[in-house]
Amino acid sequence: MSDQKRKVTTTDAGIPVASDEHSLTVGPDGPIVLHDHYLIEQMANFNRERIPERQPHAKGSGAFGHFEVTEDVSQYTKAALFQPGVKTDVLMRFSTVAGERGSPDTWRDPRGFSIKFYTTEGNYDMVGNNTPVFFIRDPMKFQHFIRSQKRRADNNLRDNDMQWDFWTLSPESAHQVAWLMSDRGIPKSWRHMNGYSSHTYMWVNAQGEKFWVKYHFKTDQGVECLTQDEADKLAGADGDFHVRDLYNAISEGNNPSWTLYMQIMPFDEADNYRFNPFDLTKVWPHSDYPLIKVGKLTLNQNPTDNHAQIEQAAFEPNNLVPGIGLSPDKMLMGRIFAYADAHRARLGVNYKQIPVNSPRCPVNSYSKDGAMRMQPVSDPVYAPNSKGGPAADGERYPTDSTWGTQGELVRAPYSLHAEDDDYGQANTLVNKVLDDAGRDRLVNNVAGHLLNGVKEPVLSRAFDYWRAIDQNIGDRIAEKVKAAQS
Ligand code: NDP
Ligand code: HEM
Repeated sequence: MSDQKRKVTTTDAGIPVASDEHSLTVGPDGPIVLHDHYLIEQMANFNRERIPERQPHAKGSGAFGHFEVTEDVSQYTKAALFQPGVKTDVLMRFSTVAGERGSPDTWRDPRGFSIKFYTTEGNYDMVGNNTPVFFIRDPMKFQHFIRSQKRRADNNLRDNDMQWDFWTLSPESAHQVAWLMSDRGIPKSWRHMNGYSSHTYMWVNAQGEKFWVKYHFKTDQGVECLTQDEADKLAGADGDFHVRDLYNAISEGNNPSWTLYMQIMPFDEADNYRFNPFDLTKVWPHSDYPLIKVGKLTLNQNPTDNHAQIEQAAFEPNNLVPGIGLSPDKMLMGRIFAYADAHRARLGVNYKQIPVNSPRCPVNSYSKDGAMRMQPVSDPVYAPNSKGGPAADGERYPTDSTWGTQGELVRAPYSLHAEDDDYGQANTLVNKVLDDAGRDRLVNNVAGHLLNGVKEPVLSRAFDYWRAIDQNIGDRIAEKVKAAQS
C-alpha cells in the first residue's frame, strides 16, 4: 500500500515516476527499452554531475556568517560595510592551493581565506590567504609557479625537485617559502589560522582622501599548528580533517570568529617607504604601521548543499565596492582578470546568477542573455537611452580609487625602495619571530622536504638559497641532508 504522506519521486520535469528500482523491460527478463526516459535522465544527469574543479585551490569547504563593525574607521573609508555598527552577511571558503579536490587537508601548503561580503552596494570579495606574503611578485610567473607545485607531465606525480627548482630560481619566493616551512605552513584547523589580504588595497573616505591598506583577520581561537609528523598521520587517517573540523564545530554551535585589523598607510607615504609597499613578497612591519581594529567576522551556518553553495561559489578580487580600490601591485592587477575568467570557464557566463553568487541588493546591469541566464531582462537593453533604463551616476559614485603614473611601456622588475631585497624579511621571520624550537622544526621540515626527491644541481642551490636567508640555518639544513644521505 502506498504511503499517502511521503513525497512521490518525480522526474526533473516534476512528472511522478512509478519505480525507483526497476528499469522498463520487455518482460521481467527481457531487454531495457530506450524509451525509459526516467532511467536515461538518471544516467545522463549522473554523467554530468562534476564541474571542472578550481585550477588552484580545488580542495576546500566553507560556511556562512556575518561581519560586524565594532569600531569607527569611517575616517579611512566610506565603504558601506565598514561603517560603525553595520552587520553584513558573509560566505567564506577555506582551501589548500596545490592539491586536487580529493587531496588531504593536512598537506603543507598555504591556505586560501576567501570572504564574500553581501553588502548593500554589491558583493565585496576579499580573496586572501593565511599568509601575509606570496611566492612571486609578477603575474607572468603565477601559472609557472602553480605548475611547479602540481604534477609532472610524464608520471603525473608531484615532485619536490620541481618545486625547489622553481623556488631557487625565483629568489623573491624566500620569504613565503620560509613561512611555509615554519610551523604555520600546516594549520591545526582552518579555525586556528589567521587570514590576510596579503596585497595592499586602497581605501577612500567620504572626503575623497585615499589610504593604502592591508587586511589582517586574526583568529579568536588562537593560532595552532600541526607538526609534520601529526599532519602526515592525519593525511592517511582523515584526508578531510579540516573540512570535518569546521563543519562539526559549527554544527555544535562552537562558532569560529576572527577579528579584523587593518594596517593603514597615508597615501603620500608610499613613494618613500623603506619597502615597496605594493610588493606582495613583503610585509609592512607592525612597528611601522600598527594594527587598527575594525570588527568581528563570525561563521555560524553550515552549507546545506555543498555543490550549490561552496563548489559553485565564485570569489573574485575584482568585486570591489565604493570606498575600496586596487593598488599598483602587479599581482593584484593580474588577479583582476584571472578570477572572473576562471568563473566563466568553470561555471558559465551567468555564474553571478547562481544564488550563492547573487548580490543581495538590486542589480541593474546591461548584461544580456548567454547560457543559463535566469534573471529577467527588460527593455531598454542599451545605454544611453531615453526610455527610463538605469544610468551610471559618476557624481554619487566617482572614479576615486586612483593613482598617478607615467613612463614608457617596459617589461621590468619593480624599482627598488631603500631596504628592498629578497631575503631580509625572511631573515627577520627566521631570527626574530621564530624561537629556538621553531627554528629546529624549520630546519627539520626543510631537510625532510629536500630529502624527498630533490637532486643535484637543485639541492645545492637550495642550500645556498637558505644560506642567503640565514647562513647558520642554511648550514644546518645542508648538514642534516648530507648526514641523512651518507
Ligand atoms: P612583529 O613582531 O610586529 O609581528 C610579527 C608577526 O608575526 C605577528 O603578526 C605574529 O602574528 C606573526 N607570527 C608570530 N609567530 C609566527 C610564526 N611562528 N610564524 C609566522 N608568523 C608568526 O614583527 P614585524 O611586523 O616586523 O614582522 C616580522 C616578521 O613577521 C615578518 O617578516 C613576517 O615574516 C612575519 N609576519 C609579519 C606580519 C606583518 O604583517 N607585519 C604578519 C604575519 C607575520 P600573531 O600575533 O598572530 O601570532
Ligand atoms: C583561486 C588565479 C594569486 C588566493 C584562484 C583561481 C585562479 C587563481 C584562476 C581559481 C578561481 C576559481 O576557479 O574559482 C590567481 C592568479 C594569481 C593568484 C592568476 C596571481 C597573479 C593569489 C594570491 C592569493 C590567492 C596572491 C592570496 C592572497 C586565492 C584563493 C583562491 C584562489 C583563496 C580560492 C578561491 C575560492 O575559495 O574559491 N586563483 N591567483 N591567489 N586564489 Fe588565486
